[in-house]
Amino acid sequence: MKVVFLVFSPSGHTLLTAQNFMNMLENKGVSCDMINITKNDNYIQKEDITHTLYSDIGEHCMLVVCAPIYAGHCEQNMLRIIHMLPKRKNGRIPAILLVTYGGVHSSVALEEMGKGIRSRGYIPIMGIKIAAEHTLTATFKKRINRQLPGEKEQQVLAEAAEIAVNVLNGKTDAVDAKKALEYAPFPKRLMFRILSQEKIHGKYKKVAINSQICNGCGQCIRACPVNMFACVDNKVQLIRNPGHCILCAECYHHCSAGAIIHPYIEVARKRLSDGFAELENPQSAVYH
Ligand SMILES: Cc1cc2nc3c(=O)[nH]c(=O)nc-3n(C[C@H](O)[C@H](O)[C@H](O)COP(=O)(O)O)c2cc1C
Ligand code: SF4
Ligand code: SF4
Repeated sequence: MKVVFLVFSPSGHTLLTAQNFMNMLENKGVSCDMINITKNDNYIQKEDITHTLYSDIGEHCMLVVCAPIYAGHCEQNMLRIIHMLPKRKNGRIPAILLVTYGGVHSSVALEEMGKGIRSRGYIPIMGIKIAAEHTLTATFKKRINRQLPGEKEQQVLAEAAEIAVNVLNGKTDAVDAKKALEYAPFPKRLMFRILSQEKIHGKYKKVAINSQICNGCGQCIRACPVNMFACVDNKVQLIRNPGHCILCAECYHHCSAGAIIHPYIEVARKRLSDGFAELENPQSAVYH
């Protein structure tokens, strides 16, 4: 039996963190497998993915769901995948929820992931939040958490690996971490319950290419985690409905010609540099 990692990582920090955590488990003799849905059209583009999940995940003794936090919530693609997991009927399997975030507010992400995974018949035994570079600030003068994850995050992952192995070995019972996942102050939890990711981001999903400047280099095609771009008739174009854009800004950061129009970047620049970006304390932690 194996531990399966499900990962979505537009800018790579969640993937690195998940790989780190997986190595820690493997060093303790646990067999692991990883499904990375980033740029994977079988997951990103298809409406019904329950069957794909069923065959890809297979038999497992623990599930680790890894995603970044966007607008205080679990990123929407991973939340959708959680809700499409094949429902467990025979015996509940322990699950771990792992988020990386820019340190600003994790609020309801672990809580809503816990709720989702519980509804599919798993036991959410712990939530892990890991501070990482705030990727929206990657090309800003003032970058948030540029050096993270660091040593502290390694310690948090090591603590989590210890707990996971104890549950797998039957030394500790698999207990639902429901209460522990409600760690954010109540006003913030309330605010982000009202303000969904779509409410915060929806109106900015208007990424476009300035064709006067675009040199056709294709960097945006390679960088986009949800495959919004393609080269059609020798021209790089947006090929998906703008609503599928997650505003990750990877296209913007990678376009050296400055041809990407990204309406949310300037909003983020203002929000993250005028005192709005108060960092959480602790920045990285295990909740169980
Ligand atoms: C559109 C967008 C929204 C984000 N919203 C938040 C947020 O609300 N709070 C936060 O602390 N970090 C936020 N971040 C930062 C990411 O959660 C963080 O950089 C994460 O580690 C990215 O993971 P990845 O490298 O796997 O994509 C946001 C990043 C993007 C691109
Ligand atoms: S990265 Fe910029 S210049 Fe290159 S193809 Fe995309 S939009 Fe055009
Ligand atoms: S179009 Fe740009 S901002 Fe939107 S998902 Fe793709 S890379 Fe991210």
